Amino acid sequence: MTERPDIRVVPVNASIRAALLVLGVSEEQYDFVGRIGASLPDAEACHGSEPMAILRDGEPIGFYRLEQHATSIADRAFERPTVGLRSFFIDTRWQGQGLGALALGAAMEDIARRRPSVQDVVLTVNLRNTAALALYRRAGFRETGELYHGGRSGPQHVMLRAVSP
Ligand SMILES: CC(C)(COP(=O)(O)OP(=O)(O)OC[C@H]1O[C@@H](n2cnc3c(N)ncnc32)[C@H](O)[C@@H]1OP(=O)(O)O)[C@@H](O)C(=O)NCCC(=O)NCCS
Repeated sequence: MTERPDIRVVPVNASIRAALLVLGVSEEQYDFVGRIGASLPDAEACHGSEPMAILRDGEPIGFYRLEQHATSIADRAFERPTVGLRSFFIDTRWQGQGLGALALGAAMEDIARRRPSVQDVVLTVNLRNTAALALYRRAGFRETGELYHGGRSGPQHVMLRAVSP
């Protein structure tokens, strides 16, 4: 029997910051996610944005950021208290092993635990990004039916999921 990897998510801190900055995805995948060298400092500088590390056995393998102001995700307001999830990626060396799905599960648990007033999570995903679309659908996210045109690589689906479905 294969042992389930220990996947956790934690707010970025000084002890893991350097190891996070060497993570990345393939050139084609940069159509869908920004480089961590830009997105990490940006999240650190933005009020309401929290940079998060994905750890496997304590070592960074991925990144995302939580946006307190969900309006910034899809340029619209949400009826229920909603947090935005952005810049989610798993480093190339660790993709295709089920770790993205585990990390997304850990991210939802973290939101439920540390932000109990939040009811929904919103994200956008490029129409061409079949891997991420499948990942998010499998995790219970659903397209709202809107298309967001603010990205640099073409239209994106807006997807929502209740924190506690
Ligand atoms: C999308 C991403 C996070 C998936 O991470 P991952 O660890 O490789 O995903 P997992 O191994 O956990 O796979 C979870 C599900 O995603 C889907 N998936 C993953 N890779 C896929 C691929 N290359 N093609 C199609 N579906 C894929 C599958 O549905 C898979 O479920 P399955 O194992 O039952 O088939 C990763 O490919 C990535 O970082 N991509 C670049 C950045 C990006 O696009 N981020 C999303 C921005 S919105």
